[in-house]
Amino acid sequence: MKQELKKIVIPIVKWYQNQEKTLPWKQDKEPYHIWVSEIMLQQTRVEAVKKYYTRFMEELPTIQDLANVSEEKLLKLWEGLGYYTRAKNLKKAAIQIIEDYQGKMPTSYIELLKLAGIGEYTAGAIASISYKEKVPAVDGNVLRVISRVIASKEDVLLPETKRKIAKELLQIMPEEAGDFNEGLMELGEKICMPNTIPLCEKCPIQEFCIAKKENLTAELPVRIKKQKRKIEKKTVFILKYKEEIAIRKRGKTGILANLYEFPNVSR
Ligand code: ADE
Repeated sequence: MKQELKKIVIPIVKWYQNQEKTLPWKQDKEPYHIWVSEIMLQQTRVEAVKKYYTRFMEELPTIQDLANVSEEKLLKLWEGLGYYTRAKNLKKAAIQIIEDYQGKMPTSYIELLKLAGIGEYTAGAIASISYKEKVPAVDGNVLRVISRVIASKEDVLLPETKRKIAKELLQIMPEEAGDFNEGLMELGEKICMPNTIPLCEKCPIQEFCIAKKENLTAELPVRIKKQKRKIEKKTVFILKYKEEIAIRKRGKTGILANLYEFPNVSR
């Protein structure tokens, strides 16, 4: 596998280096910038992240600012992005960086993993993009691209599949580790897309792609869904008096903890 997969490295790095980099978080490789953008980009579309990222950096330009921010202000900056634990973990990790790392972002994959909210993907992204450490950063885009290139029928929703793909990638990481990782991700976003016909004729690694050769792109990657999303039905009260409208704060734990909502009851 290693020898075959290695062929994709140079074409992907070159392709990525020729891509336009106009997004606000692609203007430099400052680890704080990469960190915040990677966290925002999880579960959120690029278009939606742009204005949140820019405002966040205007309000909290340094790790110290993030460590000192009030929870109210932090949640206000995050309002609308969803998955608010991400924001709370950012602040927690900023405090860890101040207390345990003299205010400087740790510079290795292993140390980054010790920070709140930083898992293998985010540690890999920061270490490779900011510090050129030869570690992979495997998100859903990368899983899809690699599953198609090697025509893997393994369920990409299983941690085991992700671990295997990360192991394969680890063995072929080039010096330009960040460009390779970002190239794989961007290829997945722009060319080797999900839920539609991918743009194989524009793909820099089409000649190495087994899914393309065997006409399997529609079937790959394999995703075996377990549970349906839980739907909650609520009756929501809009209580208005002149210019005022009633809202209440949610409980301290569970989904959307500490956020505000219109009063409501379960149906
Ligand atoms: N999606 C999430 N992070 C990305 C990155 N660093 N480059 C390209 N696409 C991404």
